[in-house]
Amino acid sequence: TTNTPTSNNIKLEQLENHKVDATNEQMTTDQGVKINDDQHSLKAGERGATLLEDFIFREKITHFDHERIPERVVHARGSGAHGVFKLYESMAKYTKAKFLNDTTIETPVFVRFSTVAGSRGSTDLSRDVRGFAVKFYTQEGNFDLVGNNMPIFFIQDAMKFPDLVHAVKPEPDNEIPQAASAHDTFWDFISLMPESTHMIMWLMSDRAIPRSYRMMEGFGVHTFRFINEEGKATFVKFHWKPVLGVHSVAWDEAQNISGKDPDFHRRDLWDAIEAGQFPEFELGVQIVPEEDEGKFEFDLLDPTKIIPEEIVPVQIIGKMTLNRNPDNFFAETEQVAFHVGHIVPGIDFTNDPLMQGRLFSYTDTQLIRLGGPNFHEIPINRPVVPVRNNQRDGFMRQTIDKLRTSYNPNSLGENYPLQVPEKDGGFTSYAERIDARKVRARSKSFQDHFSQARLFFRSQSAPEQAHIIDAFSFELGKVRDVNIRKRMVGVLSMVDKKLAASVAYALGIPVEKPEKPINKGIPADAGDEYEPFKAES
Ligand code: HEM
Repeated sequence: TTNTPTSNNIKLEQLENHKVDATNEQMTTDQGVKINDDQHSLKAGERGATLLEDFIFREKITHFDHERIPERVVHARGSGAHGVFKLYESMAKYTKAKFLNDTTIETPVFVRFSTVAGSRGSTDLSRDVRGFAVKFYTQEGNFDLVGNNMPIFFIQDAMKFPDLVHAVKPEPDNEIPQAASAHDTFWDFISLMPESTHMIMWLMSDRAIPRSYRMMEGFGVHTFRFINEEGKATFVKFHWKPVLGVHSVAWDEAQNISGKDPDFHRRDLWDAIEAGQFPEFELGVQIVPEEDEGKFEFDLLDPTKIIPEEIVPVQIIGKMTLNRNPDNFFAETEQVAFHVGHIVPGIDFTNDPLMQGRLFSYTDTQLIRLGGPNFHEIPINRPVVPVRNNQRDGFMRQTIDKLRTSYNPNSLGENYPLQVPEKDGGFTSYAERIDARKVRARSKSFQDHFSQARLFFRSQSAPEQAHIIDAFSFELGKVRDVNIRKRMVGVLSMVDKKLAASVAYALGIPVEKPEKPINKGIPADAGDEYEPFKAES
């Protein structure tokens, strides 16, 4: 199937069947009864009381009472758009995924950009990571690339995710502050979690305040696997590069905009698409042969590390064009359910411990957010190919399964769904050899927390470095506990002495000799042995 931007996009056609336009139509109840008066409740006399039998009133109010669903536990604030993905160059050498093999296929996509920490109604311009989630409706099922606008993450193990999010969200007693970073609990956690240092450099950089969703990069973060027709695996990192280039606003501008138009990014995305200035992003891949897994100074499974583009260049393989706004925010942008675990034949996971934990988390949270096990039937979540299996029932089931049987093996149902051999496209997991003991541990290969943080800081231009110093000074200046400030300056001294000294100076923390690390307690090769700075009482 080929899909051109507007008319014959197969996903848009599928959604069309679910759309309703009630313009100038007769008003009815949910049961289809025509409504004569929608403005006055049924009363005993003009001055009341209201009668319980008023089913029209009860239905209207009841539905209203139940309009809200829980917001996402993270990434609650977001904006969505439809589009298409077009491949430039076949990746058949590395992956058998059809949408990455055939350059004539245009794959429909739905994208949701988001902030992470704020609630659904919070400002677009806070200093925060941005989510960059893409659902590809491929002919082999849905593939979700659930990424961010930064190529790394705060933590190396999903076990720590609730701690990170509890620290970054507003404090539990007073629900203050909404901002992602400017508070004690966040910096307390970060200052005690040296593996977050690389990410925190990105978060204090201009990358954390994009000019527009159209002007930021996206990253799959984890190392994934491509699997080709012969079953050979290759490591792959995914990148999105905005055709408009990467642009940010300055912090003062961001604060101004937040006050005047908290919907700034949402409005910008909507308006650009309405004006026909379709946002475009090129898809890039960094390819690493399996044999080269051990060749790097860092571990490919460590999500706090990038593969520098100088070492493995990003190969551009296709382009995504966002060309249509959603019709209904709730039905599409709010109800869409992305999941790292939604993969198609030709793509597979790795043992990155952050990725492994995500594989559990998304479906689990969506089960409650979207009200039970049938949220794959919500129009925006349906694949463009048929869904046929033995799953049955559950809250809000919409499919009417006609077979007498719903189990396997089965000798009664003549037409029960058949398992698909691998050669015909049945998914099989990559048969990675694992021979190991069960342990709760972190690999020694995950212990260098500072080299890439330093690489990042030193790669920045002088004005960009000044912005980073200003950001640390501003954010840490909001921290009330002086021990946390000092500990953070100690962490920064492991990254760059000039950075640490400058921030310390701005915070009014005395530095005797700025050239020396402020926190002498942290050894240069600090890893698990890291001892947090202890302030003298
Ligand atoms: C939501 C990205 C790590 C749990 C999201 C969303 C994005 C995202 C883009 C928003 C999806 C949307 O627009 O609907 C990432 C990235 C991560 C990461 C790039 C690290 C590389 C984690 C981890 C966990 C987690 C470690 C848990 C173990 C969640 C949950 C949601 C979410 C529960 C809400 C999903 C929903 O309600 O539909 N994440 N995330 N994430 N993420 Fe992550």
